[in-house]
Amino acid sequence: MLDEWLRHYAGQNRRRDTAATWVIADRNDVVVAYASVAMTGIDRSAAPDALSTGAPDPVPALLLGRLAVDRRHANLGIGTALTAHVLATAVELNEKAACRAVVVTVLNTSARGWWEQLGFHPFEPDDPDVLDLYLLISEIQATLRRTQ
Ligand SMILES: CC(C)(COP(=O)(O)OP(=O)(O)OC[C@H]1O[C@@H](n2cnc3c(N)ncnc32)[C@H](O)[C@@H]1OP(=O)(O)O)[C@@H](O)C(=O)NCCC(=O)NCCS
Repeated sequence: MLDEWLRHYAGQNRRRDTAATWVIADRNDVVVAYASVAMTGIDRSAAPDALSTGAPDPVPALLLGRLAVDRRHANLGIGTALTAHVLATAVELNEKAACRAVVVTVLNTSARGWWEQLGFHPFEPDDPDVLDLYLLISEIQATLRRTQ
């Protein structure tokens, strides 16, 4: 079972225009994975140079707030496919408005490796405990090529 957030908050967030949730369901309409996204602004003073150089404050970005795959469907590439969809959406948003990066706060340090193998970078590379990661829009095509 996926967590309570989807059941209780995804609809509320959508109705209030505060987050959009993308869902993958099986043939019986049972949800197997979801991703929640919202526009955000990154505090320029806390951002690494790659994000802050030449950017306004806050730096426009897309927040991947939640990503979850049902354990029974783990390691099938579903998390990667859903993330690839969010990354492609960020590229479109950047064309229509402006979005310099996709940012994510990972659940714990053991999940960090999963994001790093998709190309995400920690905000503070020297801190192994940091949970805030980013991927520049300009890096997304390379990640999408690797995930196809
Ligand atoms: C993280 C999560 C989204 C991955 O979903 P998934 O559909 O199982 O992932 P995929 O099938 O796309 O990718 C699995 C691959 O990543 C690898 N992998 C898994 N965890 C990893 C880690 N910490 N570091 C590096 N690679 C990792 C697996 O070995 C597998 O590699 P393979 O394809 O070569 O066998 C899922 O495990 C999940 O819902 N976790 C709980 C919630 C969470 O951590 N969300 C992210 C923070 S918001």
